Amino acid sequence: MKEQLLAKAFQAMENAYAPYSNYHVGACVECKGGNYYIGANIENASFGLTNCAERSAIFAAYSNGYRKEDIVGLAIVSDGDRIAAPCGACRQVLNELLKKDTPIYLSNGKEEVVTTIKDLLPMSFDMEDVL
Ligand code: THU
Repeated sequence: MKEQLLAKAFQAMENAYAPYSNYHVGACVECKGGNYYIGANIENASFGLTNCAERSAIFAAYSNGYRKEDIVGLAIVSDGDRIAAPCGACRQVLNELLKKDTPIYLSNGKEEVVTTIKDLLPMSFDMEDVL
């Protein structure tokens, strides 16, 4: 599972549209039943409108009807010298859209880290704080 997720994330990275940063990120969400949803970072001349790869992928999974209970893993890969850990905005999104202990695999092709959103965003602001 991990190998396939990472391979699909690296394929997705090929679709990155990153003419400004030239930093390419790919992501893949695996859902129960063997469905995979990929995403890449998509930049914009109005920089703030850039969409990160992991948000693209998880929004695709949700857009296809899947919810956090259905998601078994997420891979995020980059072509940087260091592993791309999700940005703060993505952590907040993943905190709501993933289960706290769903494995998140990070790789840059040289190193690999397995983590969870619980570890990436401790003391998080959650849905329960609002509802
Ligand atoms: N980026 C992602 O897609 N995911 C991350 O986890 C970190 C950053 C993108 C946003 C932007 O297109 C480029 O990487 C440089 O910040």
